[in-house]
Amino acid sequence: MSSARGREALGLPGTVVVAADPDALAAAAADWVLATTAAAIAARGAVDIALSGGSTPAAMYRLLAASPRREQAEWRRWNVWFGDERACPPDDERSNFHLAQSLLLRHVPVDPLAVHRMEAERPDLATAAAEYSALLERLPPDGPGGAPRLDVILLGLGGDGHTASLFPGEPALDIADAWATTSRATYEPYDRITLAFPTLNAGAAVAFLVSGEGKREALRGVVEGTVPAARIRPVDGQLLWLLDEAAAG
Ligand code: 6PG
Repeated sequence: MSSARGREALGLPGTVVVAADPDALAAAAADWVLATTAAAIAARGAVDIALSGGSTPAAMYRLLAASPRREQAEWRRWNVWFGDERACPPDDERSNFHLAQSLLLRHVPVDPLAVHRMEAERPDLATAAAEYSALLERLPPDGPGGAPRLDVILLGLGGDGHTASLFPGEPALDIADAWATTSRATYEPYDRITLAFPTLNAGAAVAFLVSGEGKREALRGVVEGTVPAARIRPVDGQLLWLLDEAAAG
C-alpha cells in the first residue's frame, strides 16, 4: 500500500486507499475483507457479505483462498450474497458466481447452504430477482426504510461508471421499493440481476476495488456525481475506495 489519502486528495466520498499496483490492491482488499468479516462475526456471530464480479476481484479471491489468509477467516460463519449476476448458467465462465466459486468458495469451508446465488439463468428474470429480494429479508432490516443490512459489500466500477449491474440510464437505477431487481448491461450477457441502491446503501462496510488507468474517467464521474457509482453513499456505514496507482492517477 503506497498511501492512504483522504477524500480531499481525490474528491471521492469516504476513505481512499491507494495501492502501488494490482497485486498490492488485491492484498489490501483481502485484508480488508478479513478485518471487516471478523468484526461482524465478533459483533453478531455471523457475517453477511456480498461478493463482486467482473475481473478485478479475481486476485483478491485467490489470496483469500490461500495460506495464510485462508486460515484467518471463520468461513463457517459466512453467509455469501452477490452484488449482481449475469444471465448465464452458474458454470459459465462469465458468471460472477462461477468466478467466486472457482477461485474462492470451493477452496474454503463456507457452508454451501449459506451461499445465496442469484439465479440469473432462469428465463423469468423478474421472478428470480423478486425471490432474491425476498431472500434478502432474512437479513436484519436495519437499513434506511427497513432495507436489509449486509455487513460487507464488495463493488467494482465499470469504465462507464456502473457498479454492480446498475448501468447508466437503466430503470434499475430508480428502483426504491425492492432490494434486488433486473437490469440491462451494455455488454454480453445483457440481462442481469443486481442489488438495488437501497440495499447497497444500507451496507455497513462498502468497498470499491478499482484497478487500471481505464477507470480514471469513471472515477472522475464519481467525483462529479455524473455516473451510477456516485450514488453509492452508505447511510450508516463506511465507504472505502481501494484503488491502485494506475486508477488513482
Ligand atoms: C459485472 C460486475 C461489474 C464489474 C465492473 C468492473 O457483472 O460486470 O459486477 O459491476 O464489477 O464492470 O469490472 P472489471 O473488474 O472486470 O473491470
